[in-house]
Amino acid sequence: MRHLISIDDLTLSEVDELIKTSYDIINNPNNYREKCKHKKLASLFFEPSTRTRLSFEAAMLDLGGTYLGFSDSAQSSATKGESIADTIRTVSLYADIAVMRHPKEGSALRAAEFSSIPVINAGDGGHLHPTQTLTDLLTIHKYKGGVSGLKVGICGDLKFGRTVHSLVDSLKNYSGNEFIFVSPNELRVPDYILETLEKNNVKFSQTTNLDDTISDMDILYMTRVQRERFFNEEEYIRLKDHYILDKQKLSLAKSDLIIMHPLPRVNEISQEIDTDPRAVYFHQAGFGKIIRMALIMKLLEVA
Ligand code: CP
Repeated sequence: MRHLISIDDLTLSEVDELIKTSYDIINNPNNYREKCKHKKLASLFFEPSTRTRLSFEAAMLDLGGTYLGFSDSAQSSATKGESIADTIRTVSLYADIAVMRHPKEGSALRAAEFSSIPVINAGDGGHLHPTQTLTDLLTIHKYKGGVSGLKVGICGDLKFGRTVHSLVDSLKNYSGNEFIFVSPNELRVPDYILETLEKNNVKFSQTTNLDDTISDMDILYMTRVQRERFFNEEEYIRLKDHYILDKQKLSLAKSDLIIMHPLPRVNEISQEIDTDPRAVYFHQAGFGKIIRMALIMKLLEVA
């Protein structure tokens, strides 16, 4: 039985295979309508979500399966003090596969240790979000024709941004990718990630200035400063509008740049950008459902 806790749980050829299956789902959706008939997805969200939760649930429905979950984690027995281990042991009795988001780092790994069904990490605190990375890789593949040889700018909250941590961890494995990290000093990429890049001889630079670097980028991955990860509200207010991508900034960028964002957005991308052909973030959210269909089939070993 396989789980997906970190993007490293998949080999590069398995990621390629998921991308290939995703294109086939897009082109031949009717071939997939009954792939997971009679299968159940447990949707365990202990933190808010729109895209990840709904795209997983829609993915299972589009595969002919169904889903179950609590409407609000406050209504689950976690509020009575039940452990993650006991929760997943119980859920394993009712479902065939589980997707879990939890505010604690390491929670999905803990669940996997006690689960008798595949567990998918849908975000564990400020740590990892591997299915967002699969979504991002499919988006990059679609718009750039591959996932290698790219200058990838990542801007915003790089310290707490679990989507960033998982994406960098994956893109470092493809040849010729370089990173330009743009953040306030307080929200720089964690050292352990930089050390991994150094160890793998992956080029990167760090800056606080988006205007000076945007013209070098093939991809600009914007992220939200995450209020829920701050202990100090004043610090959040000071940092939250540090970068706002608007038409003036975008005028400095390449004509074939793609602008990505895991969403939700707050102020970091001005709405005037939404109609620019380089803005692909809503297409990206759509690809999330497709590659999650491919992932569910893989973990359930459905041919
Ligand atoms: N990108 C993402 O994880 O969005 P949600 O928080 O809405 O699931």
